[in-house]
Amino acid sequence: MTALQASGLHKSYRRGRERVHALRGVGIEVHPGETVALLGRSGSGKTTLLNCLLGWETPDAGEVRVPGVEAPEQAPWTTVAVVPQRFGLLEELTLADNVALPARLAGQPDPLAAAHGALEAVRLGHLSSRLPEEVSLGEQQRTALARALVVRPSFLVADEPTGRLDEELTAHVLATLREQCAAWGTGVLLASHDPAVIASADRLVRLHDGAVVAAA
Ligand SMILES: Nc1ncnc2c1ncn2[C@@H]1O[C@H](COP(=O)(O)OP(=O)(O)OP(=O)(O)O)[C@@H](O)[C@H]1O
Ligand SMILES: [Mg+2]
Repeated sequence: MTALQASGLHKSYRRGRERVHALRGVGIEVHPGETVALLGRSGSGKTTLLNCLLGWETPDAGEVRVPGVEAPEQAPWTTVAVVPQRFGLLEELTLADNVALPARLAGQPDPLAAAHGALEAVRLGHLSSRLPEEVSLGEQQRTALARALVVRPSFLVADEPTGRLDEELTAHVLATLREQCAAWGTGVLLASHDPAVIASADRLVRLHDGAVVAAA
């Protein structure tokens, strides 16, 4: 059983006459309830890999498999949730409405109550009626995390999810993420350089120059 499995992923970009091989045969597996940290220096291919896993980019070769889903780009929010680096909150909606949106689209019986619960879990209950522009970047980042968690996805991808958080909040958010995802069986893939994320992961996958190398 896997939450997500990919094999033999190749992706290259053409830059004028030059070809950049961003991924050179990458394979990765994330099991239900497991948190995997994706590491690698700048330019090693992390974002390209995440984009291929999410179906936002098409690999030149290779396969991405999410159980129960035909193709990754067709995965519903309830199956594959994402916390993008730029959060992607809707500016005209309150934090509560932003978080309630996927719950509503997923047909949950009480989306607003679910949103309040998810916001409480990341210590934002008191700000739920604010607009994104009325809160800090760290609060926006936690809202994006709540929005991903509210649907209890089977696979969750986050790009630098603690980049805007202080140490104390990072510890709280990681603990919440781990606890909830382990309970629901959500497989989590976190691209990060944060030592706290690395320390909290069940497993590390390191990319070097578009390939997976032994994670030390
Ligand atoms: N659209 C593109 N066109 C050309 N080259 C690209 C494109 N996107 C990425 N690349 C190149 O592919 C390689 C991998 O990029 P990628 O963004 O996946 O790295 P990364 O590991 O996420 O880096 P960072 O830690 O800086 O975010 C880099 O050499 C990058 O310059
Ligand atoms: Mg990147």
